[in-house]
Amino acid sequence: MNIGIDKIGFYAPDQYIDMEKLAELRGVDPAKYTIGIGQEKMAVAPLHEDAVSMGANAALAILDDEDRAKIDLVLFGTESGVDHSKSGAVWVHHLAGIQKNARSFELKQACYGATAGLQMAMGHIALNPDSKALVIGADIAKYGLNTAGEPTQGAGAVAMVLSSNPRILTLDNDSAALTKNISDFWRPLYSDYAIVDGKYSNESYLSFLKDVWGVYKERTQRDLKDFEAVCFHLPYTKMAKKALLTLTAEASKEDAERLMSHYQNSIIYNKQLGNVYTGSLYLSLLSLLEQAPELKQESRIGLYSYGSGAVGEFFSGVVQPDYKNYVNKGKNEALLNTRRELTMDEYEELLEKALPKDGSNIEMNTEQIVEGKAYLAAIQDNLRKYAVK
Ligand code: CAA
Repeated sequence: MNIGIDKIGFYAPDQYIDMEKLAELRGVDPAKYTIGIGQEKMAVAPLHEDAVSMGANAALAILDDEDRAKIDLVLFGTESGVDHSKSGAVWVHHLAGIQKNARSFELKQACYGATAGLQMAMGHIALNPDSKALVIGADIAKYGLNTAGEPTQGAGAVAMVLSSNPRILTLDNDSAALTKNISDFWRPLYSDYAIVDGKYSNESYLSFLKDVWGVYKERTQRDLKDFEAVCFHLPYTKMAKKALLTLTAEASKEDAERLMSHYQNSIIYNKQLGNVYTGSLYLSLLSLLEQAPELKQESRIGLYSYGSGAVGEFFSGVVQPDYKNYVNKGKNEALLNTRRELTMDEYEELLEKALPKDGSNIEMNTEQIVEGKAYLAAIQDNLRKYAVK
């Protein structure tokens, strides 16, 4: 039985900053951010948007009533969870209107959470072929003002419906994973900002890739010639270029050129949002599917997931006939192109703004919210109240 991605969509907050202007403000050559890091714009979440509301909005963008009736598993991958106890999946289940007899829970392993969800959903559908699963990756990436990580922040969410006989991408059941206890990036419970050893995190990302790619190749007897494209976890787009160059160091010219040309298609959306942590790999996949000319039938796509701390996994999938009919290029481009640019003053003020942590109540200003969108409406009696406008 074929199992895989039947639907995929994303959500981004409706405001961003321009990376060249951030570079100017920090006294850095803009080319460092746009070429050295490889980012053009960075999404910045307003106070009424968090991982839950963004995850719900990504789901609302793709679900129809048949999905709502068939989904019986909601998996929410995040490292920006809003409660130590209650999972974001339960709120998303409610806000997206999914039928009540479902399992819903959250998965955490840095940027690997959504991949854990995808693999778990595959097992669930193998046992229950008529079921569908909703897998979400939603995050706000924050390192703080004036930090080395600042140009690699971002915010957004990806939602996917997994099913049997999927219309977009079947997933192969031959992935290779690696777990090692390292400290390259983490966020203590008391901190709003991630702590990162930047250079070490880059090295770890690449050394995990070499390991899992080696195991995957041995297991499947496939090589780069068998892949039309490879998508990577994208903390910033230059990281994936380094990853691809690592893989293609000994590839034929033809393979290296094909993969590099698809790399360009796979970074278009991520360049506009920045790091969305758990959703980043899947945002890159969506960018490839929507922005590349129609991929040949039966094209195999490689996927590399990396979550600091760390878990890495290389897996693959096969593009389905007519997949272009089931993605939403126009709608997704419009979402990116209608965002509002923040001034640097607005950005600096917003990045440091936080919700109350002392139990006091807060009511959000909802003027900016568009019809049909989920948002955080208030915190009352220590409880987050979400709504769909
Ligand atoms: N023109 C063009 N390029 C320039 C330039 C200029 N004027 N000035 C510098 N550059 C280039 C540098 O040569 C460098 O390129 P290479 O990496 O190819 O050598 C690039 O710009 C970045 O420069 P630096 O290495 O000097 O940058 P930095 O020390 O200020 O920080 C960073 C870069 C380490 C990525 C930092 O932004 C950071 O810590 N980010 C957060 C951590 C992160 O994203 N890690 C990724 C792997 S971990 C992971 O993937 C999980 C996750 O999501 C966090």
